[in-house]
Amino acid sequence: MNLIHANKEEFIRIYQENIKRDGESALLEYLKNSDFFTAPASTRFHMAIEGGLCRHSINVYNRLVMLVTAEYGADWKSKISAETVAICGLLHDVCKIDMYTTELRNVKKPDGTWEKIPYYAIDEKLPYGHGEKSVYIINGFIRLTREEAIAINWHMGSFDDRVKGGNYSIASAFARYPIAVLLHMADLSASYLDEEHSSSCS
Ligand SMILES: [Fe+2]
Ligand SMILES: [Fe+2]
Repeated sequence: MNLIHANKEEFIRIYQENIKRDGESALLEYLKNSDFFTAPASTRFHMAIEGGLCRHSINVYNRLVMLVTAEYGADWKSKISAETVAICGLLHDVCKIDMYTTELRNVKKPDGTWEKIPYYAIDEKLPYGHGEKSVYIINGFIRLTREEAIAINWHMGSFDDRVKGGNYSIASAFARYPIAVLLHMADLSASYLDEEHSSSCS
């Protein structure tokens, strides 16, 4: 079994074990019919490889489980639902579906000849932002709780364009919803500690 297939099976197992809400099967079908399981997680920053988006989503879920365990103890499921943790971890980056294209660029080889090398580029067909776009897509299939919507909306933390533009709503979100803080930390940990990256998180 190749890695992309193994990651897809792992994702679906975690999804089906934890997400039971109305609309979950339609959402999973949407993911299967999209490029979710083959897309990269970024153009060049982290997991810029085929299947990177799925692997990153599992990595964030695993990091989020570690963080809620550290925060609430081994019986964390009595404080926060396992379904919420799975939804936040596995689905926070569905905004990246159908966003990456493969282009070719000419690269000069040591012998002076030129070679066409493929690279990932962005072709944003649904320009709805980042976290807010994931919330919009997921809500088309299942009804997110308030804390799930807030956590996914602000999962980029201070990397979010709205925050960089001076919006302070994220402070209220983090103060009111601990899962929002933990999801951002999980995204950071997965991107920088678990995955190969170059210089930024995207
Ligand atoms: Fe993201
Ligand atoms: Fe992410």
